[in-house]
Amino acid sequence: MIPNDLFLKACRKERTERTPVWLMRQAGRYLPSYRILREKAGSFLKLCKTPELSAEATLQPVREIGFDAAIIFSDILLPLEAMGIPLSFEEGEGPRLEPVREEKDIERLSIPDPEEALPFLMKSISLVRSELNGSVPLIGFAGAPFTLACYAIEGGSSKDHRKTLRLLYSEPGLFDSLLDKITAATIPYLRAQVRAGADAIQLFESWGGILNSRTYRQFALPCVRRIFSSLKDEGVPMIFYLNGSSHLLREMAASGADVLSIDGRLPLGEAFQRTSGEFALQGNLEPSALFAPADFLRKEAASIVSGAPRRGHVFNLGHGVLPGTPVDSVKLLVDSVREFSRSET
Ligand code: CP3
Repeated sequence: MIPNDLFLKACRKERTERTPVWLMRQAGRYLPSYRILREKAGSFLKLCKTPELSAEATLQPVREIGFDAAIIFSDILLPLEAMGIPLSFEEGEGPRLEPVREEKDIERLSIPDPEEALPFLMKSISLVRSELNGSVPLIGFAGAPFTLACYAIEGGSSKDHRKTLRLLYSEPGLFDSLLDKITAATIPYLRAQVRAGADAIQLFESWGGILNSRTYRQFALPCVRRIFSSLKDEGVPMIFYLNGSSHLLREMAASGADVLSIDGRLPLGEAFQRTSGEFALQGNLEPSALFAPADFLRKEAASIVSGAPRRGHVFNLGHGVLPGTPVDSVKLLVDSVREFSRSET
């Protein structure tokens, strides 16, 4: 098998013959083969925790769509469960966690040994690595601490995050102690993924954009910096995804990441200029564009490719693939990115 290292090269800002492409949430319900596998597993958590099945879910999009990177099939909330927060996924309702809001809830949380608490994940990573046999790189991931704190405090998804913000404003010390514990758990968790075979890591800061830059800098950024500076010695590319990044680019640039993953609202050319071309950039098609007619989708893809830096661009969405996305549109997108980026070099 000829190794495809376009993704790793682009992360390192090296020249590539074309732009590599993978999509956040590339595994999941939009793929018929995933729905069959999920049915077989019985539940989403069972799927995540059975190495053979989660390895299969990781490989499906790589095989069927032909992405240039795989991302290990898991969820950002699993480490919270390993810390002692009961987690469930109710059918059609999203995640549910036992809320963490008081000092005693935070004190009770443990900082687990990832090999002991999440052995299935490390097993799945090594299975995927051997199946891929070097054909494409594998990405490991974790949620960024502020985003995980949002889920822990709200007890699940939330529209306005009022409980999170109330705790942050009224008991900043307590909020910090929660972030601190999550950060301490995240560092060995990501390190274990790299040791098991992940070729790159990504932090998902899905809710960072709800904070203004001063508050982000005060509470959330120090955790992200601590994670990236601790893991730098592993020598793998480190990607920082921040949803709602337009007002937080300076904070992203100060995170210690190698690659900044930008949401769909900010043109990549502008992100490039505002960060002085220092970083590789990942992104940033709006996920909803995959529901648009083919010619619109192709135009959007072309404009992102031509507006991105020539070196150091990993094509991705600005957020995850939405359920119900037509598989043919995803295929068309991948083909279009290849076509446009090849003709530009
Ligand atoms: O393909 C991949 O990207 C790898 C797997 C992956 C999943 N979740 C699988 C999943 C990754 C990287 C994630 C990250 C994740 N999980 C994030 C960050 C990215 C983002 O979307 O902002 C967040 C916030 C979560 C938390 C989460 N997991 C929610 C809110 C939900 C319910 C909503 C939904 O999309 O269903 C999940 C469930 C989830 N995680 C599914 C999958 C495939 C769907 C489960 C199913 O019904 O089969």
